[in-house]
Amino acid sequence: MRKLKLAVLGASGAVGREMLRLLEEYQIPVEELRLLAGPNSAGTKIPFRGKMHTVRCADEESFAGLDYVLGASDAPVSRRFAPAIKQSGAVYIDNSSAFRLEHGVPLVVPEINGQDAFTHEGIIANPNCSTIITLMAVAAVHRLSPIRSMVVSTYQAVSGAGVQGLRELEDQLAAWVQGQEAKPSVFSAPIAMNLIPMIGGELDGGYTDEEMKMQNEGRRILHAPELTVSCTCVRVPVMRSHSISVNLWTEEAVSVDEARRAIAAFPGCRLADNGRPTPLEAGGQDLVLVGRIREDLTRPKGLSLWCCGDQIRKGAAANALQIMKLLEEV
Ligand SMILES: NC(=O)c1ccc[n+]([C@@H]2O[C@H](COP(=O)([O-])OP(=O)(O)OC[C@H]3O[C@@H](n4cnc5c(N)ncnc54)[C@H](OP(=O)(O)O)[C@@H]3O)[C@@H](O)[C@H]2O)c1
Repeated sequence: MRKLKLAVLGASGAVGREMLRLLEEYQIPVEELRLLAGPNSAGTKIPFRGKMHTVRCADEESFAGLDYVLGASDAPVSRRFAPAIKQSGAVYIDNSSAFRLEHGVPLVVPEINGQDAFTHEGIIANPNCSTIITLMAVAAVHRLSPIRSMVVSTYQAVSGAGVQGLRELEDQLAAWVQGQEAKPSVFSAPIAMNLIPMIGGELDGGYTDEEMKMQNEGRRILHAPELTVSCTCVRVPVMRSHSISVNLWTEEAVSVDEARRAIAAFPGCRLADNGRPTPLEAGGQDLVLVGRIREDLTRPKGLSLWCCGDQIRKGAAANALQIMKLLEEV
């Protein structure tokens, strides 16, 4: 691979820092690296390949001469800087939700729809983290027979809400041990010793924007415009890695054995050794772990399964770097 000129936009956050770790781990050749964030982190230093790099406050002039901008900011920041990034000629691989449903912006999980990345017009969107992990687990079944519908429940780690989400659980656990009240600020209720059965903003009909990503983004990634998904997103007191329970129905019946074999052979997936993957086991690696594959008992042509994946790696940073490698390695 050629030596790349890169910027990480949101370098001080949970996803941005993981991108830096993975650039090292994947041994991606880097000629120039710009660490960009907001005013809070400007001037702080972050290590990369044995050297300290200073974080700069991003502005419209930050992107000239780059090959790629790896986006790890929220959607409003991403929308603000996207025109300047496009103007610079760099390819923008964005982790936020800003452009995921926009025409002309491919939404890519390399193992599933990698070819879509090559249709980009300057921006490529990384899908929602729970959506990536779920689709990685079910894509092999979808290739055996198209999935028509899914009922999905997510068990999402606090780090899905970024650095502040992690701190909130740590602080509340410390307060709980001392018998003090756990005051919520990032989440809508205490998260230590608890769970919160709703993530995201409520839409008409009671589902949230986070829950609808599973259907809206799933349709684009699987090239299945008729796919229907009923999703419930739950925040759980887990530091890292999301877990997901899935019931799915296919056009033609797929047996449990056929599904097991297909999932085991799918790149980026692993059948959990004991059949019961946990978020702790899934953390720190790019593989999505799948288990508890059973026949659905409510309707014919249905399967039920459980999967876990590190949402900061495969659900965000790793997926984005895999997209960049895909574009570079043709
Ligand atoms: N966490 C996950 O598991 C996960 C998974 C998939 C996708 N995502 C998405 O990835 C994005 C980043 O998430 P995160 O969890 O890493 O959030 P985070 O920990 O809160 O980090 C946000 C980053 O954005 C930076 N930022 C804030 N204002 C900025 C500005 N005006 N200009 C430039 N940068 C600015 C922050 O810098 P300061 O330090 O200066 O504030 C920080 O580096 C979000 O869109 C999120 O939805 C997250």
